[in-house]
Amino acid sequence: MSTFNHRKYRPTPALPMRSRQWPDHAIEHAPIWASVDLRDGNQALLEPMNVTQKRRLWDLLVKIGVKEIEVGFPSASQPDYDFVRWLIEEDRIPEDVTVQVLVQARESLIKRTFEALRGARRAIVHVYNSTSTVQRERVFGRDRAGIKAIAVEGAGMLQREAARFPETEWVFQYSPESFSNTEWDYAVEVCDAVTAVWQPTPDKPCIINLPATVESSTPNVFADQVEYFCRQVARRDAIIVSLHTHNDRGTAVAAAELGLMAGADRVEGTLLGNGERTGNMDIVTLAMNLYSQGVDPQLDLSNPDEIIQIYTQCTGLPVHPRHPWIGELVYTAFSGSHQDAIRKCLHRQTADEPWQVAYLPIDPRDLGRDYQAIIRVNSQSGKGGVAFVLERDYGLTLPRWMQVELAQIVQRESETHSGEIGSRRIHELFIEHFANAGDPVALTGYRLHREHGVDSIEAQISDNGRVDTIRGSGEGAIEAFVDAWTATYGNHINVIDYTEHSMGEATDAEAVAYVQLNIDGQRSAGVAFDRDTVSASMRAVLAALNRARVTRAAA
Ligand code: KIV
Ligand code: ZN
Repeated sequence: MSTFNHRKYRPTPALPMRSRQWPDHAIEHAPIWASVDLRDGNQALLEPMNVTQKRRLWDLLVKIGVKEIEVGFPSASQPDYDFVRWLIEEDRIPEDVTVQVLVQARESLIKRTFEALRGARRAIVHVYNSTSTVQRERVFGRDRAGIKAIAVEGAGMLQREAARFPETEWVFQYSPESFSNTEWDYAVEVCDAVTAVWQPTPDKPCIINLPATVESSTPNVFADQVEYFCRQVARRDAIIVSLHTHNDRGTAVAAAELGLMAGADRVEGTLLGNGERTGNMDIVTLAMNLYSQGVDPQLDLSNPDEIIQIYTQCTGLPVHPRHPWIGELVYTAFSGSHQDAIRKCLHRQTADEPWQVAYLPIDPRDLGRDYQAIIRVNSQSGKGGVAFVLERDYGLTLPRWMQVELAQIVQRESETHSGEIGSRRIHELFIEHFANAGDPVALTGYRLHREHGVDSIEAQISDNGRVDTIRGSGEGAIEAFVDAWTATYGNHINVIDYTEHSMGEATDAEAVAYVQLNIDGQRSAGVAFDRDTVSASMRAVLAALNRARVTRAAA
């Protein structure tokens, strides 16, 4: 019998909420950000951070603009205690940053916590106890009143200890741990009992932090619960409602977003989502989500590579290449149709209009990424990607028909080597196939004369060492040149398409000409570069003729 049995599990209970408001709300400003990297994140590491790593991560958090930072559990861990002392004694806490520490509702631990914070200008003391049904019944063996009593006693202890250190501006925070698995009315009851002790005011608010300690429902259920809490809780105007979501179901960010829509003011999380099990809510992702919607996230994430480097160095964890917003591959398109759309949109995007580029929700340059990585070519890519790469890296704007032909050549090469084809190789293939098919025939000189709208040409052609002078006329240099060729060598040639452009801005910039011919019923394309556009065009015709010859010889 299979052990995979869904009947073992029950859905997380939810309340029917008929008048929920949050679905009609939008997030219009950044929440108060609180980092728990140095506490929740650190506790979840196989090897907790050493002092150097903690200091680096602290500096990074301050640098990107996080204003409330939970730095540890000083009463339970000597390294955490020492770190808090270092921050205070070395004056490492900027004026506008507040340290936060966690403590259980136990007198000895609370006393030591306040000792650790002695001399701090401002500090958040965060006390918690678990309130969920399963924790009450199976872990603590206490009923609702017993669990509420723990919270109330803890709140009282915080107040008494704080009074002993009046030089510090104290902020109290309470978390009904496992809030999302606590009966909704009971969570409110416990928090009301805590604030009844603290008596916060709008001028001196406290923080009530609502954890999804283990994420166990869809984010809308969490949002309902947050909205219910915000509506039912006493002293709402004197409470900063904070969220602390974990990512067990992979929706910690979504839960935090809906929770903000439901009325929360603050979010706790970690950079890139490090934390217990599947992690804490990822602050970078939530902040970038806001940014991409035109909301100032109030965090400077413009150097994600630095964040990744410090994160990896401090946590020992890798960052997935497809991590939202900052992963190495998230601005790269391999699919041909995506590449084509990106290329077209980038051409049309102007600096003074809102960003509108298909498949790129933000401008990668905002995160210090250039356009190099956007389009990478493999066997899934089409003409768009190939064209983009040649234009970006070599200034070549290929006509559409040539993009199609080159894309097939590149695809064959990619299939043969089963992998990505770099920009240099694409360029080599382009030159090999269109500009340099062995070149048995070359143009060594020409004279062009125009009279009464007709061009006459006299050109010197060297063919494997033999030099011929060919003469012809027509409308425009190409027609005249083709006429001269046909008159001398007898091929029947039709010019199907011809395009040229200069490469670069300078007046002596090189010109490139692309030509597609029908030579005795066979299509052949050629490309040539020259200082002079006339010579580039004739040499492009010769490149196509050479190619046709080589193809015929190989057939
Ligand atoms: O996940 C959690 O519930 C916590 C609390 C201590 C806030 O980390
Ligand atoms: Zn947590």
